[in-house]
Amino acid sequence: MHYFDHSATTPLHTQVKNLMNEVGELHFGNPSSVHSLGRKARVLIETARKQMASAIGCEPQEIIFTSGGTEANNQVLWNVARNDKKHVVTSVIEHPAILKTLEHLSDFGVTYTAVRVDENGLVDPQDVENAITEETGLISIMLANNEVGTIQPIADISAIAKEHGIMMHSDAVQALGKIPINAKEIGVDCISFSAHKFYGPKGIGTLFIKNGLKLKPLIYGGTQERSVRAGTENTIGITGLGLAAELAAKNVETSADHFYSLTEIFKEQLNNILPDAVYHGHPNHRLPGLISVSFPNYRNDLLMAHLDRRGIAVSSGSACSSGDVKPSKILSAMNVDDHLNICTLRISFGLGNTLEEVTILTKAIHSSLEQIRSAA
Ligand SMILES: Cc1ncc(COP(=O)(O)O)c(C=O)c1O
Repeated sequence: MHYFDHSATTPLHTQVKNLMNEVGELHFGNPSSVHSLGRKARVLIETARKQMASAIGCEPQEIIFTSGGTEANNQVLWNVARNDKKHVVTSVIEHPAILKTLEHLSDFGVTYTAVRVDENGLVDPQDVENAITEETGLISIMLANNEVGTIQPIADISAIAKEHGIMMHSDAVQALGKIPINAKEIGVDCISFSAHKFYGPKGIGTLFIKNGLKLKPLIYGGTQERSVRAGTENTIGITGLGLAAELAAKNVETSADHFYSLTEIFKEQLNNILPDAVYHGHPNHRLPGLISVSFPNYRNDLLMAHLDRRGIAVSSGSACSSGDVKPSKILSAMNVDDHLNICTLRISFGLGNTLEEVTILTKAIHSSLEQIRSAA
């Protein structure tokens, strides 16, 4: 299988896999136990915390471990339900881990305004400021979009949040390892990450919580993670996350260069096959290696099935249920018409992809398009 769906998830980095195997086998003690096995597990967790903190330029005590990006986002959003100020400003292109949670939180008195994006998927900080009310207790805008890769002006939005004395959160699940991230520079109060997007394991994530900020727990019980996140720590997952974060941050520039060159070759080759392909997302402010491209008149469910048969894994943003392709909400929010919307694929390159594989991909697209055309 040639895998081009790294925005959905990444395979484990070999070093990460080896470390996790070792931890699982040898260091199974409960990190809260006082004997030496427990103390060893504690050391591993605190090492991972330092690695994660250093990857995003913050202090180790500003990191808590969660079960993933979804929980990190929920951790922040559920706090609003306990605040006096229960209004949230977000954007229309956030991940369901934000938008679905906010919908549900209406049962607890939370309201929200989702600001529009332009045709490149960019949020205008002025729109965020205009949406602020007396009741706004949180601004939550993603750092980079999972379907089109557009990077938002988070530092500008954070500055607005600060000016109004409002807590600022960003979902950065798609960004680590693709662009440099410095928590202090972007000025947010909380940031969510997920290890399986940067060659770490699934089911483990991190929430950066700025020093001094107190969040109420989402999960109650023991005093783990400074009493913000109860439950015996997932030592294997946490150590995997720590090493994956260290590697992702250390190699971010070479990774980005690799992703850029794969993207350039892909676009060049696709242009020879289908000059009227339409690309989505911001032309400059975007994640390297994430391509959202429409193949006019070729439905994405059909195209994906043909590619799958040829051993190619890509994805689409649109939901597919019982043969009906529903347009992607993100592309719709960017004013992409439904016809083009349902003809869009997301191709996301990873560290293991090669230039040769890009040629395999474009050849598979070429033959799939020909086959679909001849069957029509
Ligand atoms: C932008 C964004 N936020 C949150 C999530 C959820 O993360 P997790 O799978 O770790 O729960 C994802 C996963 O696709 C994502 O792309």
